[in-house]
Amino acid sequence: MKPDVLADGVYRVAAKIGSRNLFEGIWPIPDGVMLNSYVVEGSEKRVLVDLVKDWDGALEAVGDQLESLSLGEGDLDYIIINHMEPDHTGAMVEIVNHYPNVEILCSAKAVPLIKHFYKIEKNVRAVSDGETLDLGGKTLKFFMTPNIHWPETMMTFLEEDEILFSCDAFGSFGRYEYCFDDELSAEEKEKLASETERYYANIVSSFSPFVIKGIAKLDGLSIKMVAPSHGVVWRSEPEKIIERYRTLASYMQGPREKEVTVVWSSMYGNTQALLSSIVDGLKSEGIPVHVLRVPQTHESFVLEKVWRSEGLVIGMPTYEYKMFPPMYHVLDILERSHVQGRKTLRFGSFGWSGGAEKQFDEFVTAMKLDYRGVVEYQGSPSEEDKQKAYDLAKALAKDING
Ligand code: FEO
Repeated sequence: MKPDVLADGVYRVAAKIGSRNLFEGIWPIPDGVMLNSYVVEGSEKRVLVDLVKDWDGALEAVGDQLESLSLGEGDLDYIIINHMEPDHTGAMVEIVNHYPNVEILCSAKAVPLIKHFYKIEKNVRAVSDGETLDLGGKTLKFFMTPNIHWPETMMTFLEEDEILFSCDAFGSFGRYEYCFDDELSAEEKEKLASETERYYANIVSSFSPFVIKGIAKLDGLSIKMVAPSHGVVWRSEPEKIIERYRTLASYMQGPREKEVTVVWSSMYGNTQALLSSIVDGLKSEGIPVHVLRVPQTHESFVLEKVWRSEGLVIGMPTYEYKMFPPMYHVLDILERSHVQGRKTLRFGSFGWSGGAEKQFDEFVTAMKLDYRGVVEYQGSPSEEDKQKAYDLAKALAKDING
């Protein structure tokens, strides 16, 4: 890859991470992910904004691009660390060794993290909220935006070119052939939209109140480009990605989309035997329905759909007096991600003894679910069970549709 030019003296140096990897060791990235760093050159000083992890050739790729910008040893004055998570800092030791006199600028909360993660204390300086850094004709301004996505996160704004370096915020999963949103094909734009939503649900959703606060902090800034550290640079209508993030964050409290996500699992087909009654009942009210089976569907995709949906239906059998274990895992992920308040139904079978419902009740409480009831049966469902499931599902959809 070659560096991409954002403005005179402003470049993206990026690496494309392949699809065989798991992001954070958990989340599938079937279309890969971008790690973006940025170079800003003033007439007097040069800066690298955010780093990469030495992952799938990223350090070499970014190193080559830095070299092509003639950023050799000694040619870098500052590294700005907007966020300490290792996808943006993993190669810090190598990069500091290459630029031994470089000064690292970060939030106060990042200073001890740098020490603990990388044993680096020399030439590390905390910047404060609103502080500026003059590079000679280019001025960087720092905005503390904690918890997007760790407590130490901040954003950096290049005043003259009106470019916001936002790190995780406004990011997306996926690798993209081009740097800017307006260069993508219609198909790539579609992928970008869905990979933005899945990235948000998987990585950022828990921190939604901070996203709303962070966006409020940017109010009044004239932003020409949003340059995150994952995904593309938002050049055409950058306000749209900010607005998209505001909407995704608003799903925590609601209102959410008038949709229902059905997450189901089955051992021998007896829980599955009620699925069509549920789906038919929902669809009879014309509501969009997402149907996902676990463990066949990774929780990454489940969380994406549940995050946006006002309605949730959980189908699972009892397994040894408790919930079916893959569904327990999915619900644990949903709870950690602060999925709350969904209008919810459950259905499921049991063999010689129930028990799933009792354990599910703990999630109902923890997730403050608006629980509308359960259709639970021994063995296979009766015609009455099917009718009850249809009626409950229809009532749920009708209520959501308002
Ligand atoms: Fe892309 Fe929270 O790191």
